[in-house]
Amino acid sequence: MTATAPAPLPADLEGGLRRLKLAAMRSLAPELLTTAKTQRWAPEELLRALVEAEIGARDASNTRLRLKAAGFPMLKTIEEFDLTASSIPAPTWAYLTSLEWIRARENLCLVGPAGTGKSHTLLALSHAAVLAGHRVRYFTAADLVENLYRGLADNSVGRVIDTLLRNDLIIVDEVGFAPLDDTGTQLLFRFVAAAYERRALGIGSHWAFDQWGRFLPEHTTAVSLLDRLLHHSVVIATDGESYRMRQARTRGGDRPTTR
Ligand SMILES: Nc1ncnc2c1ncn2[C@@H]1O[C@H](COP(=O)(O)OP(=O)(O)OP(=O)(O)O)[C@@H](O)[C@H]1O
Ligand SMILES: [Mg+2]
Repeated sequence: MTATAPAPLPADLEGGLRRLKLAAMRSLAPELLTTAKTQRWAPEELLRALVEAEIGARDASNTRLRLKAAGFPMLKTIEEFDLTASSIPAPTWAYLTSLEWIRARENLCLVGPAGTGKSHTLLALSHAAVLAGHRVRYFTAADLVENLYRGLADNSVGRVIDTLLRNDLIIVDEVGFAPLDDTGTQLLFRFVAAAYERRALGIGSHWAFDQWGRFLPEHTTAVSLLDRLLHHSVVIATDGESYRMRQARTRGGDRPTTR
């Protein structure tokens, strides 16, 4: 049996598909045309296969672009998250992984000590959101404020915020790791106020809300900021032992003794 190599596309078709930027169709068409002929496909079957190939390739390429634009510091997934080792109740986790809160423009606030899965949760849900077609941007609070600060120099804070709010979900992790000055607090407030009821925010912090005065020096602004943040929000207190410590101990226990 001799497998015949698919004939190249006629030049006019090749040129037309190139001009229309239908790259996946162009590369798959020779093979699909051969298959369609030998298997006597109905004409619409061939058209469908070509259209599906193009849609599939574009979806994959858009997902890659959204992943890159999200600026995740690392990949964390829902599948890797051990719910039994976390303090997040199963029904809450089911709601969060449905991503419904993002569509509803609600916020997610995770508050708890080091190593209790705040960043993992934010990153895993963000990754799932990107795969589901959402636009996401990850920041630490320090990076976000630095970004906004840069806008102050040329009076473009409003524009910077508008650009950020093109995302469906904006993550602000590590809130309160470093204290903010008055201007930083004002900028953070401006951002949260602009996102309020318009976009979903994901927040991670060591500090319980009644402690936010420790890093937000302006009391009234801190209160107004929290008021907006918490109005439509899933709030989770993560607690228990640090997952990092637990893993370190397990690794230590597995290690052969040298004595
Ligand atoms: N329930 C979990 N299942 C699987 N891995 C987890 C879980 N909780 C935490 N981890 C892992 O433990 C490490 C620390 O978790 P994470 O970075 O989310 O902590 P954190 O609460 O953000 O801590 P920090 O406040 O110090 O930033 C990460 O490698 C994370 O993937
Ligand atoms: Mg973290």
